[in-house]
Amino acid sequence: MAARMTEILRADLAGVMQAAAQLRAGALVAFGTETVYGLGGDATNAKAVAAIFDAKGRPRFNPLICHYPSAERAFQHVVADPRALRVAAAFWPGPLTLVLQRRPNCPVALLTGAGLDTLAVRVPRHAVATALLQAADRPIAAPSANRSGQVSPTSAQHVMDGLAGRIAAVLDSGSCEVGVESSVLDLSGTMPVLLRPGGVAAEALEACLGPIERGTPHATGQPAFRSPGLMVSHYAPNLPVRLNAESIADNEALLAFGPPLPGGRCVFQLSGSGDTVEAAVRLFEGLRWLDAEGKRVGAAGIAVMPVPLSGLGLAINDRLGRAAAPRGG
Ligand code: TXA
Ligand code: MG
Repeated sequence: MAARMTEILRADLAGVMQAAAQLRAGALVAFGTETVYGLGGDATNAKAVAAIFDAKGRPRFNPLICHYPSAERAFQHVVADPRALRVAAAFWPGPLTLVLQRRPNCPVALLTGAGLDTLAVRVPRHAVATALLQAADRPIAAPSANRSGQVSPTSAQHVMDGLAGRIAAVLDSGSCEVGVESSVLDLSGTMPVLLRPGGVAAEALEACLGPIERGTPHATGQPAFRSPGLMVSHYAPNLPVRLNAESIADNEALLAFGPPLPGGRCVFQLSGSGDTVEAAVRLFEGLRWLDAEGKRVGAAGIAVMPVPLSGLGLAINDRLGRAAAPRGG
């Protein structure tokens, strides 16, 4: 990525308004929350979301959390059942993230949720973050504002240490009160599952909700089936997927990268110029479109042209590999 200056913005009204304007324009702005600093981008803008993965050097599309200024705003994008309303009333604003079903009209880019039907939503308990989210007036996707594999940042200086030159600005709101990430609670199924322990204790969640399945994917292996990064066949279209296609059969649909192979029933172009950032933006949309359009025109499968492993190509290949993996029953 081209080197550029990262501005440190003071957390006064002018700084918040500038940060919000930058987010609305598709730029990346890190901001403090009560847990850790987040690397924010407009969640409705797939290009901004792809730039988040790129700036972090995140090796695959782990789904991102969407941040809102209030529960009311969050529940405009996901379906809240009585359990969600109860924990939200008890712990929001605060260090709790809820995984819920997306609403059909949800404007959040598919890439934000890694193509899943669920979305992780959170309302931070931090006056500056709330002011920023209000001024931005759209959901803000934000993973922790560190390079992938490094420690989460709890000050603006930590963010600069890892991301200076890779993002537009950091809104400096001082150090973080909680210092560990939010608890991630999956309420999309019948049994609540704690996917990640965090700032709200599991005991407190159980006191509010009754029994929850505990343990991280690493600890028990169990919730891994709901934790997208770890599941082999994750985003599986209905049509079978064939990778690294060098030619295409008459009855196949094509997911193209660069100049398209001749033939095929229908074509979705990831990036005509072979740009992995652009391809990342279009990947989940492309798989969904080819699945529907391919079926409509009688295609028997989806052929995928090779995508290089550099840059976001690693994440793209990871997701394509899962889409093509043998389906478990
Ligand atoms: O405290 C926090 O949560 C911080 C601040 C910035 O808000 N954010 C954060 O984001 O830690 P990140 O991207 O580092 O962690 C998001 C976690 C990941 O473990 C991801 O797999 C999980 O949430 N997640 C997000 N969307 C999900 C979904 N739809 N289903 C299951 N897990 C999801
Ligand atoms: Mg993180």
